[in-house]
Amino acid sequence: MEQLKQAIRTEGSVLSANVLKVDAFLNHRIDPVLMAAIGREFAERFREAGITKILTIETSGIAPALMAALELGVAVVFARKQKSLTMRDDLYVQKVYSFTKQVENEVTVSRKFLEKGDRVLIIDDFLAHGEAAFGLAKIVEEAGGAVAGIGIVIEKSFQNGAAKLQEAGYRVESLARIASLENNQVQFVEETIHA
Ligand code: G4P
Repeated sequence: MEQLKQAIRTEGSVLSANVLKVDAFLNHRIDPVLMAAIGREFAERFREAGITKILTIETSGIAPALMAALELGVAVVFARKQKSLTMRDDLYVQKVYSFTKQVENEVTVSRKFLEKGDRVLIIDDFLAHGEAAFGLAKIVEEAGGAVAGIGIVIEKSFQNGAAKLQEAGYRVESLARIASLENNQVQFVEETIHA
């Protein structure tokens, strides 16, 4: 998605060979015009997938998920992150380890917001090792729903999340795919244009 890549080029900064900072439009300040375009792009890619619900995770997944939900005419549920909680029967709970932040969170979704038969589009801001996406997918499946796809705003393709999710059979659609952040430079994956 060219508009997103342009925002990354002009407003993103490389913090290290593994971390891209995009707090100017995605993780802190939010650009609503860009978010609306991101929502349209996700909706276009998943329009035929029979989506009944979007599932994301707080905080930064919510804005792109909401814009996609508006386009697709479905509700958004966002998983909450908690530091470990005493088990509660009314929640789905998955442990999600963040390699980037080196913390383990328990990710929870209220049982009342996912239904058997739901076709769920999972949306998140970043895809690194895929831990968050796998955790959300397990929750959908535990609820008796199906993961219809995984929509990612920025995929760091040099980390293994996308490959692992695809190997597990999930459809992953990433709007910007980063091949490398070496030498303080953002290198995008070359997109093959099919005639
Ligand atoms: P994974 O789920 O794919 O395995 O990713 P990982 O655990 O590494 O990511 C943990 C958190 O770090 C997530 O945010 C994710 O969005 C963020 N993150 C991962 N790589 C980058 C990066 O290159 N740049 C930035 N800016 N963030 C990155 P979170 O803890 O859920 O934060 P938030 O959604 O509350 O903002």
